[in-house]
Amino acid sequence: MAILITGASAGFGAAMARRFVQAGYPVVGMARRGDKLHALKEQLGDMFQILEADLTDKIAVDAALGSLHNLPEAFRQIDCLVNNAGLALGLDPAQEADFDDWETVIQTNIVGLAYLTRQVLPQMVARNKGYIINLGSIAANYPYPGGNVYGASKAFVRQFSLNLRADLHGTGVRVSVVEPGLCGGTEFSYVRFKGDSERADALYRHTDSLSADDIAETVLWLYQRPAHMNVNSLEIMPVSQSFGALPVHRTPPPPPPPPPPVAADAPAPQPKEKTLLERLSDWLK
Ligand SMILES: NC(=O)c1ccc[n+]([C@@H]2O[C@H](COP(=O)([O-])OP(=O)(O)OC[C@H]3O[C@@H](n4cnc5c(N)ncnc54)[C@H](OP(=O)(O)O)[C@@H]3O)[C@@H](O)[C@H]2O)c1
Repeated sequence: MAILITGASAGFGAAMARRFVQAGYPVVGMARRGDKLHALKEQLGDMFQILEADLTDKIAVDAALGSLHNLPEAFRQIDCLVNNAGLALGLDPAQEADFDDWETVIQTNIVGLAYLTRQVLPQMVARNKGYIINLGSIAANYPYPGGNVYGASKAFVRQFSLNLRADLHGTGVRVSVVEPGLCGGTEFSYVRFKGDSERADALYRHTDSLSADDIAETVLWLYQRPAHMNVNSLEIMPVSQSFGALPVHRTPPPPPPPPPPVAADAPAPQPKEKTLLERLSDWLK
């Protein structure tokens, strides 16, 4: 039985495909870019099979799943679905963001993930065995400026995963959400900044971020836990990343009131007369 990994043409997905094949599992990799998937197949051989499909296209996804039956026996049933394909687009504040970008993120990270899960789940429930591993993000848990729809889509992934657990109660089907923080060496920021590699690279400069292999190793570890054990959610950050204080916006204080106007013929202010105690202490000096 196979591991179906979406977004296997790059980043985490490609690293997971490598790691699972290395560990002896048959892997089916899904993505849009067939050239990248074929290049990976060159390295991984027959233990890696390809499904070329756009996750946002339900008809293409159904056709891809239907074509599993043409693959060798070991690839026909999905024992583990790793919903990894996903993206962020832009970092603009909500009031300036491109709405088309928002729609693409929602269609991919939410609708595509939910649809594929819905299509794969029944055979897992029928077998009373299977595993859905969803790639969320720390962006689901810690809002940041410009995170708007991306963070919200990952909050969906988190809550969807936990709700799946509730629906699958009494079955042997496991569900986990993995929520990574800053992770370099993938196309994620390059895609987010629409090919601006200088801006993307700057995010990972002079710091030790997570790697795609760290995530692949973690997902393999999850899969290999005993059948009675379910990790609900797993949040991972590089040591170099932590939490910041919540910003507080303060309005500048009003300027002090101007001194009262002094009349030109007003008497000069007289020095205050000293008290008896002050005069006595002057005398003792
Ligand atoms: N890197 C990070 O710092 C980080 C942190 C937290 C969470 N994550 C999450 O981890 C997952 C993987 O990220 P990554 O860093 O590996 O990103 P990546 O290198 O950009 O890879 C994203 C993968 O998703 C696939 N994909 C995108 N849209 C698709 C669509 N419509 N249909 C099918 N496949 C699609 C891409 O393949 P094609 O372009 O070939 O279709 C690619 O293989 C994402 O869900 C991301 O949100 C990443």
